[in-house]
Amino acid sequence: MARRVHIPGLISLLEVTDPREIRLLDGDSRLDRSLAPGGGVINRLRLARLRRAFVFDAEPLPALLGREAQGRESRHAELERRLDECAEASSWRQDPAFKTLVEAVARQAEAEALGPAAQGLLGRRFRDGYHADEATFAAARRLNDYPRVNAPRALLQRLSGRLRRDRRLLHERAQGDPMTLHATGVAVHNLVGALEAMRSLAGTPGASALPRAAVLARCLSVPETLLRQVQVPLSTPCSPRRLVPGDLVLLRLAEGVRSSGDRDLAFMADSWGRCPAQRFILALLTDIWEQAVAASRSGEGGR
Ligand code: HEM
Repeated sequence: MARRVHIPGLISLLEVTDPREIRLLDGDSRLDRSLAPGGGVINRLRLARLRRAFVFDAEPLPALLGREAQGRESRHAELERRLDECAEASSWRQDPAFKTLVEAVARQAEAEALGPAAQGLLGRRFRDGYHADEATFAAARRLNDYPRVNAPRALLQRLSGRLRRDRRLLHERAQGDPMTLHATGVAVHNLVGALEAMRSLAGTPGASALPRAAVLARCLSVPETLLRQVQVPLSTPCSPRRLVPGDLVLLRLAEGVRSSGDRDLAFMADSWGRCPAQRFILALLTDIWEQAVAASRSGEGGR
């Protein structure tokens, strides 16, 4: 059900969780991804946090670009083509981190190995020799959490220089490439979330017999919220009150997927801003799961 919060001058936002409402609002060209300051004080503070975390070299990271951002569509279509080819060839199998991911899901390596291994594997799809370790993964985690932590903690991260150092480390490792930064700083957390869920599932009786589709449906990790900002006044059946420029619309994606089990929604497959990594991620997760099941079986056989 939609939730409207409106205190004039302070906050004005609409939250939706129903998949139909998420699709309806996402398809409305009067809303866009935008981090430009607008709305009441709380709206502005929220947007400022997002800018501090996810704008590099004056450009928002790729999944925060507006519909009409120059080159967005063609760059993401090219990325999708390249990642689909990777998926077709299972090219990740040559990456040293792949074995670590399989072992961690099969519970033959520590869960802590998942983050740096997943970050390295993603980074090397974009930059040969991308080096990930505990420090880069911890930096990515703090950066990703920054927009949601409480105000004193966010202030401390800024004043102590932590936020600046985390951004600098990730930027250096990505050699300043926005797509590498998105993959290793933001998208990696959904990959790790799915792998952690697979690891837990692997520890339960009968898991290896589950159909692959059921494993993905249970384990897929989805962004909690997608942000849209109202650009042009609009009335919508999703909101009891007319929306005006500067109002924020939060599409509560994770909850929408949980309540509907709709996997296309997880990657916003019908959207103008759909995820170009959908097939890649699903194929990678399936491969890791299958190899982990095989590794667990051969481990049991050896006992
Ligand atoms: C489990 C992993 C992932 C999930 C669940 C996921 C989900 C999503 C979703 C829901 C969006 C739409 C965002 C919005 O409209 O506001 C999106 C966009 C995007 N994702 Fe992913 N993603 C994942 C991994 C990745 C990876 C590994 C990459 C590689 C760099 C990637 C690249 C992108 C890009 C570039 C966009 C923006 C597309 C556009 O605006 O044209 N994603 N993703």
